[in-house]
Amino acid sequence: MDASSNSETSQDTLYDEIKSFFDSAPPLKDGPDISRKLKEFIGKNSQSKGGVAGSRIVCVTSGGTTVPLERRCVRYIDNFSSGHRGAASTEYFLKAGYSVIFLNRRGTCQPFCRSLPQDPLLECFEVSKELNVQVRQSHSEVVKRAIGEHCAAVEEGLLLKIPFTTIFEYLQILQLIGMSMKDHGRCAMFYLAAAVSDFYVPWQSMVEHKIQSASGPLDMRLVQAPKMLSVLRKNWAPTAFCISFKLETDSEILLAKADMALKRYNMHAVVANELLTRKEEVIVVTSNEKISVRRGKTEAEADADVESPLIKLLVEKHSAYIGDSDS
Ligand code: PMT
Repeated sequence: MDASSNSETSQDTLYDEIKSFFDSAPPLKDGPDISRKLKEFIGKNSQSKGGVAGSRIVCVTSGGTTVPLERRCVRYIDNFSSGHRGAASTEYFLKAGYSVIFLNRRGTCQPFCRSLPQDPLLECFEVSKELNVQVRQSHSEVVKRAIGEHCAAVEEGLLLKIPFTTIFEYLQILQLIGMSMKDHGRCAMFYLAAAVSDFYVPWQSMVEHKIQSASGPLDMRLVQAPKMLSVLRKNWAPTAFCISFKLETDSEILLAKADMALKRYNMHAVVANELLTRKEEVIVVTSNEKISVRRGKTEAEADADVESPLIKLLVEKHSAYIGDSDS
């Protein structure tokens, strides 16, 4: 067998795995509602900015997906991600003039909430003797800013938040977004910061009820979750600018793995990060360079979040990509 027929066979296997994933996934409860919101959001943003060419839309994915172990789920396997990267990046994309579809894990960090205390409702407000609720003086600045910026983005129709929990929901919604963005050409961007499960229990082989501990040790087979990056690039949104992430805990293998993902999935860039230093430094890997992006040293600096210089760099690369198509 020659190399090209080998790669065709592995493509076919991938497409079979993807088909079997979608065929067997429990249908999205609110699929039609999500499709309608996407259509409205993309249509409105194209119109208000004078057509597709003037309107850049990015889909930011954020947080980890869960893998349920039972259909009536009591137990699940989770993927690590606080959602900080996605939330912060969304804020910087909005500042850069993008409209953002924020595909986020329920309960993880949200845009404009990063500076709020951990337990916002209880810590931010106080009740007066007359039972009036008011913002504590010490928090009034951050609360005002968070609410103001969030409301502005939502009311101006620049931010669409879509939540997911399981890997089934995540991949089905990503497909809907990909296909809705197809006509948005090169002005569409995917920024895939979510931590997506590599293994899952297929719905048809999942037990209905809570697994009983009395049955002894748990012996369960997880199958490999198909990587959707190549189908996103090839079929769902072939002209969109696509950035995926690579997280490793071992710095020795990080860049090689990022390089591999770049080539295998035909990404425009891969953002490589290490678990322990992910908030300080990331490396943007493209076909011809590896650029280290670091955050500023003090909180006061404009680049206090690593996402600030990161998004600036990616916006430049996206502009070059859009410009390329004009020439
Ligand atoms: O949320 P924080 O706490 O701020 O942390 C941010 C982060 C470390 C989670 C983020 O910066 C990051 O690195 N996200 C990707 C982590 C990851 O799970 O990488 P991966 O090697 O499993 O996946 C690589 C890429 O393939 C990802 O872009 C993912 O969207 C995609 N993927 C993964 C599995 C799968 N079945 N299908 C996919 O498409």
